[in-house]
Order: sequence, then structure tokens, then C-alpha cells
Amino acid sequence: MEKLRVAIIGCGNIFLMHAQPAFIRENVELVAVCDIKEERAKEKAEQFKCTYYTNYLELFEKENLDVIHICLPHYLHAPVAIEAAKRKIHVLTEKPMSIHYSDAQEMVETAKNNGVTLGVIFQNRYNPGSVLIKEMLQNGTLGKIKSGKLSVTWDRSDAYYLTSDWKGTWEKEGGGVVIDQAIHTMDLMRWFVDDVNMSTRQLVIEHMK
Ligand SMILES: NC(=O)c1ccc[n+]([C@@H]2O[C@H](COP(=O)([O-])OP(=O)(O)OC[C@H]3O[C@@H](n4cnc5c(N)ncnc54)[C@H](O)[C@@H]3O)[C@@H](O)[C@H]2O)c1
Repeated sequence: MEKLRVAIIGCGNIFLMHAQPAFIRENVELVAVCDIKEERAKEKAEQFKCTYYTNYLELFEKENLDVIHICLPHYLHAPVAIEAAKRKIHVLTEKPMSIHYSDAQEMVETAKNNGVTLGVIFQNRYNPGSVLIKEMLQNGTLGKIKSGKLSVTWDRSDAYYLTSDWKGTWEKEGGGVVIDQAIHTMDLMRWFVDDVNMSTRQLVIEHMK
């Protein structure tokens, strides 16, 4: 079986959620990890028996990659995805797609122009409850949606924001709880309603400007 050559860029909190499935899948070879913090990259490379890099451009040059997973601070999603797509590497990026709407558009354009797939992680769409709601909306069991309301009750302490140097900053995170946590709920609402004119989209776009 021909295996997809995969690399993960960013070895922080979410890394394991990408590395473990990639490591055990038969059709995937996790060839490299990358992080500017060398100790972090080295440790993960040892754990997953692969090579490590501290510079993603060097990673792109040296490994003949099929796919990258982007697990980086938000402001880096767009530049890294665009560089990869230009090299015909497929991209799976963590949410949010980018912190500016124009960057997201450029990511889509570059992926299209280079014939690569661009995926964005919104894993809550796969929760059994989400799948059931979507099915019941599609087959009409729940009738037509007249309005929507979302609430997010997750707690993130100051300590959480202090564990990474980019979280809670406009420049690098693109905001705080709305773009980081509430985005999951907004995505579900958007997906359920399936109407590009709905107000949550406007809210996200206003926020990303
Ligand atoms: N889907 C989810 O439920 C979920 C949960 C947590 C985090 N995330 C997302 O995952 C992404 C990463 O979040 P995190 O909590 O793992 O952050 P983190 O700060 O723990 O990890 C980010 C890593 O990127 C590295 N990095 C920074 N600049 C780099 C560069 N130029 N090249 C290579 N590495 C670089 C940092 O050294 C760090 O190790 C974010 O987009 C976040 O929103 C998603």
C-alpha cells in the first residue's frame, strides 16, 4: 500500500491528537514533526520515531511530503498553508482557518490553483449528537429552523492563557474566547442552519476583519 507522507507542524497542546491517529493509520507514514522549540520537536520525534525540524520551509524542502497538519498559533495558519499549497502539499489545519478573512480567501485560492485539498479541523461535527441533529434537519424531522441561539459555557483560566505566548493576543490569536473556543459552537450552528446568510457568519467575519 502506498503511504501518505505526513508531517505535523507545531508540537504543543494539540499535537498528540494529530500524531496518534497519523501514527497508527496503515496508509500514513508520519515522517517528520516541526517546532521552533527544538527540545519539543526532538522529544516528539523520538516518541513517534520520525525526523524533526525547527524550520517548516526546510521541512518542505527536504521531505517529499503529501500532507501537513498545522497545529500552530493562529496567525501562522495562513502563511504556512499557502507555502505548502504552492509546493503541492495537501493541508489539514487546526481551527480557526486564519485570523483574517482575506487570508482565508487566499488559502482557498492557492489550494484550488495548485490542486490540493485544504481541510480545517472542526471535530465537533463528528460528535454523535451533532450528526443526529444534522440528519434530522436534512430529512425534515425537526422542521424548518426559525432562529438560532448558541451559548458556550467552557471555562479557560488565566493560567491557560499564560501557557502559550500567543494566546489572548489580537496579533497572534486574533482575539480570545470567540475565535478559539466559541468558534466550535459557531461552526456547528452555521453547519446546522446551512445558510450562508445567517448571522453567525456575519459575526465571525466582523470579528476577523
Ligand atoms: N480542535 C481543537 O479542539 C483544538 C484544541 C486545542 C488547540 N487547537 C488549535 O491548535 C492550534 C495550536 O494550539 P495549541 O494549544 O497546541 O498551541 P501551543 O502553543 O501549545 O502549540 C503551538 C506550537 O507551535 C510552535 N510554533 C510557534 N511558531 C512556530 C513556527 N514558526 N514553526 C514551528 N513551530 C512553531 C510553538 O513552539 C508551540 O510548540 C491552534 O490553532 C488552536 O486553536 C484546537
